[in-house]
Parts: sequence; C-alpha cells; structure tokens
Amino acid sequence: MKGISGIIDKALSRPRALSADELEALLASDDEGDRRAVREAAYALKLAKCGRGVSLRGLIEMSNVCAKNCYYCGIRSGNRDVRRFKLSYEDIMRHAGIVMRSGYASLVLQGGEVESRENTEFVAKVLRGIQELSGGSIGVTLSLGEQTEEVYAEWRAAGARRYLLRIEESDPEMYRKLHPETGHSCERRKECLRALRRTGYQVGTGVMIGLPGQTFRHLASDIIFFGDMDADMIGMGPFIPHHAAPVGKGICLTPEYAGRQLELGLRMISAVRLYLHDVNIASTTALQALAPDGRERGILAGANVIMPNVTDTERRRDYLLYENKPGIDENADSSRKALEDSIHAIGEDLLYGRFGDSPHYAARTAAAAERNG
Ligand code: 5AD
Ligand code: SF4
Repeated sequence: MKGISGIIDKALSRPRALSADELEALLASDDEGDRRAVREAAYALKLAKCGRGVSLRGLIEMSNVCAKNCYYCGIRSGNRDVRRFKLSYEDIMRHAGIVMRSGYASLVLQGGEVESRENTEFVAKVLRGIQELSGGSIGVTLSLGEQTEEVYAEWRAAGARRYLLRIEESDPEMYRKLHPETGHSCERRKECLRALRRTGYQVGTGVMIGLPGQTFRHLASDIIFFGDMDADMIGMGPFIPHHAAPVGKGICLTPEYAGRQLELGLRMISAVRLYLHDVNIASTTALQALAPDGRERGILAGANVIMPNVTDTERRRDYLLYENKPGIDENADSSRKALEDSIHAIGEDLLYGRFGDSPHYAARTAAAAERNG
C-alpha cells in the first residue's frame, strides 16, 4: 500500500477517492511527520473549499427531556439524578434574541428526543416565532432526534433549513452494544437520515470518536458511510465518560486519556475533510472539553464551523452529556469575545452575519437544478 503522502495525494485528487484500507492507514499512523502532513493537507483543503473563516451557529439547548437511554450519555432517560427542564416559548425567543445580538446568522435548537403531537406543534411554533423575530435573517438547524417523515416535513415547512442527526456509530453490531435493545435501532436512524434528505434539509450526521471497543476500521467505515449518504455536514466529537453512564465505566479522565481522545478527534476531522472535501465540519464542544484550545485545533485540522453555546448558564449544568463539559460558568457575551480572540490568534476570522450553508449542499442543489432545468 501507498505511504501517507501517496494517500494524501490520492485523497486530494477528488472527493471520496480513498478505500477503507487507505482511510484506516490515514487515521492510524502515529508518525509525527505523517500526522503534521495530514493536518496541513486537510487545513489547506478547508481553506480552498470554505475560505479563511469560521461559520458560527448559536447553540440553544432547549430541553434535556429524552426518551432515549443511550448507554454513553449523561442525560439518558435512565439517569434519575438529572433535573429535567424544557425552555418555554418565551425563553427560547429570548435566546434567539441573544443569537441575533451576537451577530450569528444561524442557530441550532438542540434537545433530547421527544415524539409527541404536543412537542411537534411546540417546535413548529418556535420555528415560526424565530422567522418572525428575525425577519428570516436567521437560519435554523434542528437537532431533535428521530421523528417521522411527516414531522420532519412539518418543521421544514415552518422554517427549519438544516437537521443534525448523528448516526453515533454506523456499524450495526457496535450500535447494539452502545444502546438498549428497545427503542433504539441503527436501521431506523439511517432511515430517518434518508427521510431528512427527502424532505429537503441540509443534513448533518456524525459519530462519537474513541468509544471503548471502537477500532480504526470502524472509524474508516463511518467516514465511508458519511460519503455514501452524501452528508452535507458532519458533527463529531471524542467520547468523554460520564459517571452515570455505563459505557466508559471505570475510565478515568486523566490528562493522558484526554490527550489521546483529542488527538483521535483531530485525526477524524482531517480524514473527513480529505475524504469529503466540501462539507461543513464542526469543531465541537467535546474537543474544548479535552483541551482549552481544542476547538481552535479542530479548525486547524480541517473543520470550519463552531457552535458557541448561548444557553443560560443556569441551565447548562443540567445538560451535561459528559464530564468536564466546558463553559458552564460563562455567559454568551464573554465566551464570544474569548472565541473571537482565539480564532484571530490562529489567523482565522469569525463569519458574522452569514447563514454559512454547506458548500456541498450548494453544489448538490445546483447540480440537481441543472438536471431538472
Ligand atoms: N461523550 C461525548 N459525546 C457524547 N454525546 C452523548 N454522550 C456523549 C459522551 N459521553 C454526544 C452524542 C449526541 C450529542 C448531542 O452528544 O453524539 O449526539
Ligand atoms: Fe438522548 Fe441524545 Fe443522550 Fe441519546 S445521546 S440519551 S438521544 S440526549
């Protein structure tokens, strides 16, 4: 097989050029020179496809009520120690106001998974409210789990333009180990991703990185899955243990463990950029949980999106998916200033006032228009 520089050249020649073996080799190499070459190639490709700038989405954690019981998650339904909350309509509008004042032209409404008529109507009302408040100047992304195609269509019609649904783990066998038998199905999740595409969303997916039992082969297959489903956006983060979650029980969040998880997260970002070229890739909060400059390093590894949390600090304590989640004492304004400084320090700019649509989505819809027109 080719050395790493041969694999990088092949990856740059066109999107989705690499085989599973080549992706695995790209992820697995521990040679410091190779690692630097991979990161630099991925960052250069980010600059070529997305420009010198970081797209922003204000993240609103709107509810931690969740029907699911994922074995790795701190707010899973089986954790009785979590104080459950659901922001009111007025509260969410207030948060949308914070997003607008911060100059972010895009926000993400994230919450646990609830499937009910009442919830569907509530979210639709919120979507209409945000359109009204912003005069359509804010692009809304939803991250509210598995729903029926009708619900996705209803929310799309009410103003949502993007949807994030991480597959979490694309290998069905691994998926079964990480989730309870009842109420969790890898196949349904994949079907939801297809339904989201059919209903016209920009679709984002992703996985957790560095789960116990996960191999480089699994991660390489995850990346191929992203390509096969033609994802527009990728949001991935390293797994971080939570004391009340069975997956990772006994793992200590030592500096060595944190360093390894961070490194793995950066390797995945670079590999996804090199494989998919023009998708939006988020540099997620989990990277920041592992190192104060984790998100900036994510950008330098090939990511182009950051999602600053604008949720009230009081609520953030109740949204702990994993230990050490950062920013629970910071308000939206002070963290925005700090982020601006640290992004400038790496020679990048924050892209205020832009929707920040995925270049892949733009290319995909332009190609479809040409075919139809
Ligand atoms: N470590 C890292 N990420 C986690 N998530 C849930 N639990 C953990 C954890 N222990 C991620 C999942 C989910 C997102 C909201 O948070 O990928 O999709
Ligand atoms: Fe619910 Fe998401 Fe946590 Fe699973 S990972 S328990 S779906 S909030």
